Order: sequence, then structure tokens, then C-alpha cells
Amino acid sequence: MVPTAENFDVVVIGGGPGGYAAALYGASAGLSIALVEKGTIGGTCLNVGCIPAKELLETAAVRRAISSAAEFGLRTSEPELDFSVTQIRKQSVIDGLVAGLTGLLAKRKVTVFDGVGTLGAGHVVSVSGGASGEIELHGDAVILASGSVPRVIGGFDVDGATVVTSDELLSLQSLPASAVVIGGGAIGCEFASMMSDLGTRVTILEALPQILPGCDEDITRVVLRSFKQRGIDVRTGVKVSGHELQFTGGTTVTFGDGESVTVDMVVVSVGRRPLSEVLGLSGTAVQVADSGHVMVDERCRTGEPGVWAVGDLIATPALAHVAFAEGMLAIRDLLGEDPPPIDHSRVPWCIYCHPEVSFVGHSEASARAAGFDVVVSKHRYAGNGRALILGEPEGMVKVIAERDEDGSAGRILGVHMVGPWVTEQLGQAYLAVNWDARVDDVAAFIQPHPTLSELFGESVLALTGRSLHG
Ligand code: NAI
Repeated sequence: MVPTAENFDVVVIGGGPGGYAAALYGASAGLSIALVEKGTIGGTCLNVGCIPAKELLETAAVRRAISSAAEFGLRTSEPELDFSVTQIRKQSVIDGLVAGLTGLLAKRKVTVFDGVGTLGAGHVVSVSGGASGEIELHGDAVILASGSVPRVIGGFDVDGATVVTSDELLSLQSLPASAVVIGGGAIGCEFASMMSDLGTRVTILEALPQILPGCDEDITRVVLRSFKQRGIDVRTGVKVSGHELQFTGGTTVTFGDGESVTVDMVVVSVGRRPLSEVLGLSGTAVQVADSGHVMVDERCRTGEPGVWAVGDLIATPALAHVAFAEGMLAIRDLLGEDPPPIDHSRVPWCIYCHPEVSFVGHSEASARAAGFDVVVSKHRYAGNGRALILGEPEGMVKVIAERDEDGSAGRILGVHMVGPWVTEQLGQAYLAVNWDARVDDVAAFIQPHPTLSELFGESVLALTGRSLHG
């Protein structure tokens, strides 16, 4: 205990999903909480990540809906994009959520400090460089949740105009006529999809043989086909060598075997790196790996007793909802509740490009690689009434189940989806996989009709050896 420091049950460094979840959940359990944030409450997710990205993708969805209006008997004129208005709407959604979150933290009596928090010996967190001035806090427990920043690559200096990361792209006042997206992961595919639907000519350059690493190949194939049909040039298995700014504007990006493309903008989306270097940590036993991740055990405990780390700062899936879960896990652990660890191999994944992708658990390939004998069921939205009504028949649900000794389908190992609103349909698949449900258990449940989610029920039912429509 340091006499000069203000004392709290828990001091949380970082006000993103990991940090604010720990603060809200801890406060609801009666703990006194300090939350230190150097930027805006809500972190990457709310300010420069999930929320703004999905908000801009919604503009693309509206654009697509208008484009197909004539099919529904609605004559419209060609829509004209004013991206500055799009940005105003995006910002108002963010502002509303930040205000709501700030109000919630105040209501739960979480004390928020504005500044950079660094952890030293004895659980002392020094706050500096912000509106809260220079101050020392002491936490009986400390939770590190400083998040991540975009990873950059050599030869591509981010200038916010010709070369951007997600941080800058999300605030552009107008979209470029053409762009190269380096990296075909979740961020790259979401941005490529959004920009293409709003009129940008997009090329994706991905080093691996496949875009969307971790997705089942059948699912990726559907995304790839849609991207190609919409004019997105997807180049996989290519190494980007550099770029040269052009006098006439834009830049020429070289890649692969001497190939090049000249575009107005380069979007670097090659992953994110943990932001651990701001945390101080001298005089503590907190260990940081070469990757920059803070090292933790299965309950998010660092090497320093009484100090936990959660969210993008640790080497678990960099997803806001995983950070929420880790924030709550840390609180339960420090309360001595003996919480079960998170099974990070079975967390939900949702990617909001068009068509949307969602999945949980094993893909067919990863299940086979893990030694499972599997039975697979695939059903397409083209046979689903609601999808046809929406005019979105593209996509499928794929269920991967373990083959029992008698040859029938048993435990559900994974569910992978691509198509309309699949990010909203993953819930029951998530529960099935994480409750180790068997095909027969799930097939017995009724799916409401007509819904998109019937396709999941239909895909599971088919694994019983009998079926309705599929
Ligand atoms: P990522 O790691 O998912 O994908 C990056 C891609 O870039 C990989 O496919 C990689 O092979 C490729 N790459 C790396 N270096 C390259 C190079 N020099 N040339 C060409 N390709 C290269 O990272 P991403 O998409 O930037 O996302 C960062 C994190 O944020 C991820 O952990 C992701 O899960 C999370 N995220 C999740 C979203 C969602 O769930 N909807 C949305 C956005 C981000």
C-alpha cells in the first residue's frame, strides 16, 4: 500500500471492451473501480473499429438495397454518395454509444481518469499526460487492458492520405476511386466490400493462399465468388514488395512476380499488434512476449500476483466480445469465484463483409486435422424462403459433426455460415457447439418459419439421415 496513492479495489488500465467490461462488471459486483483511459472511452471497438466499420458497411447495404429496388417494383434514380454525410451519421452513432457508456460508468460509480496509465511495483498505477494530471492510484488488483494498434509493414509509411490503416480510413471524408487493400483478413475484406459497393475499384493483395484465414474453405469460396462478381480483384499468394508515389497522384504498388497496380489509396490491413509498450511494468513480474503480448495463464493472470491482462493485449482472438468475456473472467477470478477458463477455440466469429460470414468451432479441414472423423451437412440459402423474399439467395450453412462409431452424426464440432444476416444467426450454433450438443438434440428443436435461421435447423436435421426440404 502506497500512502500517497488513491486506493481502489481494482484499477483498470484501458477503457476499451476489455477494460470497460471489467469495470462495469466489477462495479456491479460491488467493487470500487478506477478506469484509466488515454483517449476516448470505448477504445478501438467503439471509436476506430467494430462500430464505425459496421456503420459504414451499412451505408453499402443501403446502396445495394436501392440498386435492387426495381426488382421489387420500386423505381428509383441512381443514388449519389456524399461520404461526408455518411461520416456524420457514423459519428453520431459513435457519440451516442460513448455517451451511453460514459453515463453507465458514472452510474456504477466507476472513477474514470484521463491520461496514460503505467504500472509500477506494488500495484501502483501512475496516471499522466491527460486531463486528470499527474496522479498515483493503488489497486488491490490491477487489470491491464491497453488493447492494440494497427500493424504496419516496411516501405508503406502511413501518411493518412495515400497510405492508410483502419484508423484513418474510417474517418475519410470521401472514398478514393481506386484502392489496394493489403491483407485479406477480417478488416481487409470488410473494407474491400464496403468500398467496392460504394464505387471504389478495389484490389486485395493477400500473402496466404486464401483470404479470411480460419474460415472454412466452402465459405471462403462463396465470398470470393461474390467479390469477383462485384469487380473486386482478389490476388492471393502474393508478396507485396513496395510502392512508388506518382507525380500525377496516387501510387503504384508492386507485388508478386513483377506485377503492379496504380491506385489512389493503399489500405494496410495486415493485423493488429498489442499496445504493451505504454504500460511501464518495471518493478513488476509481468512478462511480455516477443510479439508484444502480455503473457497470461488460462485465467488471464500475469506473472505478477494480483495483476490480470485481457483483450487484444494478450494472445487470444482479437475480438471485442472475447475481451468482454476476459474482463468478466478476471473480475470473477479476483473475487475468488473459481471461474472456468474461456475456450478460445470455440468463440463466435462474425465478419461483416457482403456476404456476411460467421462461424464457431472447427472448420471441416481443422476438424480433420485434429483427427476427427466427420460428417458434414451443407445447405444453401437459395432454397430458403426468407432469403428469396429478401432477394439474397447467396450463401450457405455448413455443419461439421463428429462421426459416431455406428457411422451416424454425433457431436456438433463446428458451424460455418455465409449469407444474409448470418452474423445474427450464429447464436444457436454457438450454444450447440459450446454445450457439446449432439445432432439429435438440436434436430428435435423447432425453428420458426419463415426465417433465415431455419437453414441451420435444416442442416442439422439432414445429419440425422432424414430431412424436410434439404
Ligand atoms: P488478420 O490477421 O485477420 O488478417 C491480416 C491478413 O493480412 C492475413 O490474412 C495475412 O496473411 C495478411 N498479410 C499480412 N502481411 C501481409 C503482407 N505483407 N502482404 C499481404 N498480406 C499480408 O488481421 P486484420 O484483418 O487486420 O484484423 C486484425 C484483428 O482484428 C484480427 O484479429 C481480427 O480478428 C480482428 N477483427 C475482427 C473483425 C470481425 O470479427 N468482424 C473485424 C475487424 C478486425
